[in-house]
Amino acid sequence: MRNRMIAGNWKMNETFAEGVELAQGIVDQLASGTGNVDVVIAPPLVDLKGVSEVLTQANSSVALSAQNVYWEESGAFTGETSPAMLTSVGATYCIIGHSERRGYFGETDEDINRKAKALMAHDIVPISCCGESLEVRNAGTHVQFVVDQIKADTKGLEITDPSKYVIAYEPIWAIGTGMTATADDAQEVCGAIRKTLVEIFGAEIADGIRILYGGSAKPENVGGFLEKEDVDGALVGGASLKAGSFVAMVKSAMN
Ligand code: 13P
Repeated sequence: MRNRMIAGNWKMNETFAEGVELAQGIVDQLASGTGNVDVVIAPPLVDLKGVSEVLTQANSSVALSAQNVYWEESGAFTGETSPAMLTSVGATYCIIGHSERRGYFGETDEDINRKAKALMAHDIVPISCCGESLEVRNAGTHVQFVVDQIKADTKGLEITDPSKYVIAYEPIWAIGTGMTATADDAQEVCGAIRKTLVEIFGAEIADGIRILYGGSAKPENVGGFLEKEDVDGALVGGASLKAGSFVAMVKSAMN
């Protein structure tokens, strides 16, 4: 059985003080626990330490994620952050391959694959993103496109504990646009991702890997996605920036 996961990607929002306040609000509203749902928040890099302290002080089960990493251990890579640095501030997850990083910063599947390997070597769980553009969707080749991304992003990975690798399917045309994929759209691609994982890692491992949907997910629509067989949770952008709406999505996943 896969535990559901609700992950909040704060993107480039929340200063240090704002981030601490938002984290405190989430922790307070989830004080009675999250049941079987794994809850993850991904603040900007400079907020990680402060948010980590909030989570530790509250003895919260909410886990901390970074939004990016570099694969080298240390050295002359100005502006970059290593896996060990993320661990040192309490991050146990890291988003990689977000379409904004692929699109604005030129990240390739090869980069994403290297990042996954570096994170896993440090026992940090990658939340590896994939998803097609509107152009690809309109051409009807979205399933093959995403399957190819998955194959490239997971190349040579060794997954022994399937709870330690997470995939997020985020159709680019649905991110921040209010244009949500339907639950059936999400299942079509997430089902194809699962089949690909079976081919690569075998059924036992593939059955344990969480596949999240992302793209204008909000309290009103998350329940519909979660009903689908291969959708195990959500990676939430805009709706994760208010404690109330994020917590509502966690509660929806608990039902
Ligand atoms: P929105 O929920 O704002 O559409 O963002 C989705 C996303 O990109 C999460 O990583």
